[in-house]
Amino acid sequence: MSFRSKTPAFTGLSRLRNLIADSMAINMGSAATIIYVRGRGVVVDEPSLIALDNASGEVIAVGTEAQKMYGREARGVTVFAPMVNGVVADFEKTKQMLAIFAGSARSSFSHFSRRALMSVLTGITPVERRAFLGAAEHARIGRVWMVEEGLAAALGAGVRMDDPRASVVINVGGGTTSVTVIANGDIVHATGERIGASDINAAIVNHVRRHRGLSIGAQTAERLKLELASATVPDDLSQSATISGRDVVTGSPAAIEITAGEIYPVAQEVVRKIVDGIAATLTELPPEVAGDVFERGLILTGGGSLFGGIDAYLRERTKLFVFVADEPRYAIVRGLAQLFDEPKWLRHFKEDNAPALLADEAG
Ligand SMILES: Nc1ncnc2c1ncn2[C@@H]1O[C@H](COP(=O)(O)OP(=O)(O)OP(=O)(O)O)[C@@H](O)[C@H]1O
Ligand SMILES: [Mg+2]
Repeated sequence: MSFRSKTPAFTGLSRLRNLIADSMAINMGSAATIIYVRGRGVVVDEPSLIALDNASGEVIAVGTEAQKMYGREARGVTVFAPMVNGVVADFEKTKQMLAIFAGSARSSFSHFSRRALMSVLTGITPVERRAFLGAAEHARIGRVWMVEEGLAAALGAGVRMDDPRASVVINVGGGTTSVTVIANGDIVHATGERIGASDINAAIVNHVRRHRGLSIGAQTAERLKLELASATVPDDLSQSATISGRDVVTGSPAAIEITAGEIYPVAQEVVRKIVDGIAATLTELPPEVAGDVFERGLILTGGGSLFGGIDAYLRERTKLFVFVADEPRYAIVRGLAQLFDEPKWLRHFKEDNAPALLADEAG
């Protein structure tokens, strides 16, 4: 909290404003949880991780603090990633994590949030949806609307709700990839696959273990991906990085040198699967929609859209224009926040019970 907001002169005003402003846009992803508060912008952007005491179950840390411990946990502490492939894998831990994130997102004067919009992956089951609602309830959020992430991502990327022509938004997350076609503010077609940019990390860990005999941790794999991997053939195949971990044969600490040329095909295999899924969805569009897409191209959002060369690779494969949205990781929360600012649209979802709105007013 800044000093300014603590001074008495601002207290009254802030309290009044916070009553209105404590509307949250929540994007809980398998890699990161992002919360946007109306009037204050993005207030939480942290890894979806929670560290617990093994014996007591007490929460030791969440988010960035938990990430610092990840793979180097103290005795008796374990770090968990309770969301997997875009859905709640461990309800208890997700609940605890969201309660802490939502708590820190709140202003100091407001102990509950009156309402929140939450993004969810296309095609989640009622059970998976209830898990999100339960977590929100535990986080003392009064009313929750769930919006399909592709619709939110489209709005956040600048697609207008009243645009009659179709736009396609592809959100590449850590554990998921969604393709959503929007026209007239509604979803025309949407698919959600449980594969994302974090699958590249898993492929790297696997490759290094099997072919180089070194077992590496999650943080090392992420660093290697960001430093050396790309979706298109790297300019310098010999560029290298040193990574360390545990020798799988001797069990001793060890390090190896690895090149961009060695990592490229490993990452490429995952990127190809992601793009195959996207390309398959694009063959399912009605002709009029396909025509719009041909003229307008594809919009990329999500953290995976920042993976080196993924836009170029998608362009090459589909022969379409491909644009990465501004601040692509925040497109979804920006879009959700816009729905708050357009009560007309929020009402439209509620009254029409449009498919984009999966649930309204819980609790
Ligand atoms: N600058 C970057 N360059 C390359 N990759 C990045 C960058 N920033 C984030 N990523 C990758 O994006 C992925 C996370 O994206 P995002 O935060 O959209 O996922 P998420 O919403 O948590 O996951 P999901 O929606 O699939 O549950 C991670 O695999 C991460 O490595
Ligand atoms: Mg996501």
